[in-house]
Formats: sequence, structure tokens, C-alpha cells
Amino acid sequence: MKILEVRNLVMRFGGLTAVDSLNLSIEPGEILALIGPNGAGKSTAFNCIAGLYTPSEGTIQFNGLVINRKKPWDLCKIGLARTFQIVKPFASKSVLYNVTVGAFATTDKIDEAEEKALAVLRTLHFESKKDVRAGNLTIADRKRLEIARALATQPTLLLLDEVMAGLRPSEVDEMVEVIQLLRSTGITIFVIEHIMRAIMALSDRIVVIQFGKKIAEGTPKEIASNENVIKAYLGDEYDAA
Ligand SMILES: Nc1ncnc2c1ncn2[C@@H]1O[C@H](COP(=O)(O)OP(=O)(O)OP(=O)(O)O)[C@@H](O)[C@H]1O
Ligand SMILES: [Mg+2]
Repeated sequence: MKILEVRNLVMRFGGLTAVDSLNLSIEPGEILALIGPNGAGKSTAFNCIAGLYTPSEGTIQFNGLVINRKKPWDLCKIGLARTFQIVKPFASKSVLYNVTVGAFATTDKIDEAEEKALAVLRTLHFESKKDVRAGNLTIADRKRLEIARALATQPTLLLLDEVMAGLRPSEVDEMVEVIQLLRSTGITIFVIEHIMRAIMALSDRIVVIQFGKKIAEGTPKEIASNENVIKAYLGDEYDAA
């Protein structure tokens, strides 16, 4: 069974159709990327899948269960978590506090939540920063915290919205490694990203959208040489032909 199956997803804001009849699915254990120009509807699609918006039309199934009307907190509890493009931690609280909040999705015991949070910080090689106030973190570490908060909910499907934006090249490489590590632990990854170098290195498959509609789908190699994608988004330097 697919872990995620999106059928004819439509999301309208008044007269604007931000996501337009989108179809896509993800196999368990896969890394799927969603790419496309600014305003293409990528984050809106994530917001529908993660329960922030109720889709105008279509169905979203998670492990066979229709989740169209489920709220983010309920989705977290069944294993679907996301990060936000704009990171908003509790700035005056520590890294550990922020991650422990995420862990309360799966337990109501403080000790257990903190233990889970520490385990996540260890996985992400982030334990040394556990007492740092979130507001004092660098951008790269804020992105890492955002992933840690989502991971603490113990997802089987993790949605990552531009976790590499604003990072230096070496930090991008580190983030690619982190995401590969997460996949190796069995987590399925759905990632939105503009940094093509990272997308090409990470993804098993890529879906490209423009004006809310899918314009291409394929392996990184297929996408890099797809005429429509080069015209709409990638530009000539990606023309592999
Ligand atoms: N809550 C909202 N209300 C009204 N319009 C919205 C809302 N959220 C998004 N939009 C509009 O929907 C369209 C898609 O936006 P979205 O944020 O999904 O794009 P995106 O592909 O994530 O872009 P980016 O790469 O810049 O993050 C845009 O035209 C945007 O202005
Ligand atoms: Mg976006």
C-alpha cells in the first residue's frame, strides 16, 4: 500500500486555485521531492496534506485512511509530521524544551517525552546544543531544530518544507546527510526544496508543479532533461540533453 495517496487535490483561496487537480503518491521508504517556481502551490499542497487546510476537492489518504478533515495534531499522532517553511520555535525556550513539546504527541509523561527528545537530538548530532535558547541558534541550527521537533512526534511520513533555504553549501551537504540518515531509519520523506543540487542528490522521484498543476514526474535524471521543466523552472544550465 502507498503511504500517501493524493487524488485530484484542489485548494482554492477565493478566486485563486493554488493547487489544481494534483495527483501523486509515495511508496513507504521513498524520498519524493516536490519542486516548482515560487507560488506554484507547493506549501499549500503540504498544508492540505498535513491538516492545516481542508482541501476544496479531492482526497488525501495516509496508509489507506482518508485524512482530508483531520487536524495536524491528530495526524501527528498517527505518524504524519511536517516542518514549516518559516520556522517558529519558542525562542526564549531551550532546544530541549522545544523538542520535548513535539514528543508530547506520543506520550503525556514528562520524563518519557524528554527521553524521546534527547534520543532525537542524539540522532541529529544536536545534543550539544540542548540547553541553547532557540532564539540564539543560527539559521542552520533552527532548521535542524525544526526537524527535531517534527521527529519527536515519531513520524512514519515526514514533510520537509525548504529545510535547506538560507544554508551555506557545507550546511546543505550536512542536511542532505541528515535526511538520508532519517530515511535509513525507515522514515518516508516528502520534501519541498529549491536547491537543485540537494534535490538531485536526495530524491528517488521528483514531482514538478507550476500554477498548482503537475507538469512532470520522474527520476532526477528524467526531470533534469525534461524540456517543460527546464522552461518552467530549471533554466538552461540543467539541460542535460
Ligand atoms: N492562506 C492563503 N490565502 C490566500 N492565498 C494563499 C494562501 N496561501 C498561499 N496562497 C497563494 O497560493 C499560491 C501558492 O502559494 P504557495 O505558498 O503554496 O507556493 P509555493 O510553491 O510554496 O511557493 P514558494 O516556493 O515561494 O514557497 C500563491 O499564489 C499564494 O499567494
Ligand atoms: Mg512554499
